[in-house]
Amino acid sequence: MKKFTDSRHHIPPATKFGLKQTFDLINPHLYTVEQRIREQARSFDPAVEGYVAYACDNTGKHLRPALAILAGGATGKITSSHIEIATILEMIHIATLVHDDIIDGADRRRDQPTPNAKWGNTISVLLGDCLFAHALKLAASFPDNAISRTIAGAVTEVCSGEIIQTQRRFDLKLSTADYYRIVEMKTGALFACAAELGAFVSEASPASISALKQFGLKLGTAYQIYDDCLDIVGDEKESGKTLGTDLRKGKLTLPLIFLLQTARGEENQAISEQLLRGDDGDIDALIEAVSRHGAMRAAANTARRMVREASEGLSVVPSNRYTAGLKSIGEYLDHIIEPFAR
Ligand code: IPE
Ligand code: IPE
Ligand code: MG
Ligand code: MG
Repeated sequence: MKKFTDSRHHIPPATKFGLKQTFDLINPHLYTVEQRIREQARSFDPAVEGYVAYACDNTGKHLRPALAILAGGATGKITSSHIEIATILEMIHIATLVHDDIIDGADRRRDQPTPNAKWGNTISVLLGDCLFAHALKLAASFPDNAISRTIAGAVTEVCSGEIIQTQRRFDLKLSTADYYRIVEMKTGALFACAAELGAFVSEASPASISALKQFGLKLGTAYQIYDDCLDIVGDEKESGKTLGTDLRKGKLTLPLIFLLQTARGEENQAISEQLLRGDDGDIDALIEAVSRHGAMRAAANTARRMVREASEGLSVVPSNRYTAGLKSIGEYLDHIIEPFAR
């Protein structure tokens, strides 16, 4: 059986944080999710199937499916409904990435050319739409339509977050509160939906469902902050995707907001001008400034605090190996954010 923790997969194969045990624990389920996604690709028109299969390659980290399955196991028995939720949310996630790469003008993702780089924007917009619609069709097959309502609600949140982010491009007045709202919507909402529905399908107590939803929201938000740090100082080869697009597209992310709050006088003026130009040509000076002013550190520490809060909130959820698995994802996130906090 294929292991999710090896080869092209981006999660380090073994860490002391129990992540390997976590992925081993749910690996057979993730394998089924992957098969189910492949099966979905085959249900499209033959003229379209190839695009869908390409976008749905299996090298993502599967964080949202993992959350749904672990939340399900933490509060009950993992069933085919959890697999279906995980499949739907991964397809939705992929749809958002297909659209996001058009918006960001990014040409690499998961170590390969993006659909927009391969086939252009027109095909890619429609491909993203096909994936969204197909995922919602799968969601509509649950007898309880609360599930498809929750999923559609999360999609609305994600897209609205992206709209607000676009409206506020190059807006140097973007506050930290505005930023948190955007990232909660565009990334937190889908993580929250995964954890919430995993527990809902297990018929967990309202207190557990709510705690898991909060866990997903905080973890997803922290994950986006991490990703925003990575976009400034990360390595494209290592991350497998185009970086620097936040700067080029005028997205004011947390390290930059903190930098603008800290830098004074002429330096602030120069940074503001650079941000308004969307100029990542002089990225080295910016990296030096976010580091010297402690802005990168402050952003990373904010994300680490959120991860801690997320894990603390799990105290009301039954304690078992799946709950431990959820915590290990938090520990893994803390581990990868830590270098930015130095
Ligand atoms: C990328 O998500 C988009 C963000 C929310 C930062 P992932 O990092 O989960 O992407 P894959 O699925 O592993 O490629
Ligand atoms: C995540 O934002 C986009 C969505 C949540 C749809 P980014 O633009 O930062 O994601 P990456 O860096 O391209 O993966
Ligand atoms: Mg992007
Ligand atoms: Mg990013």
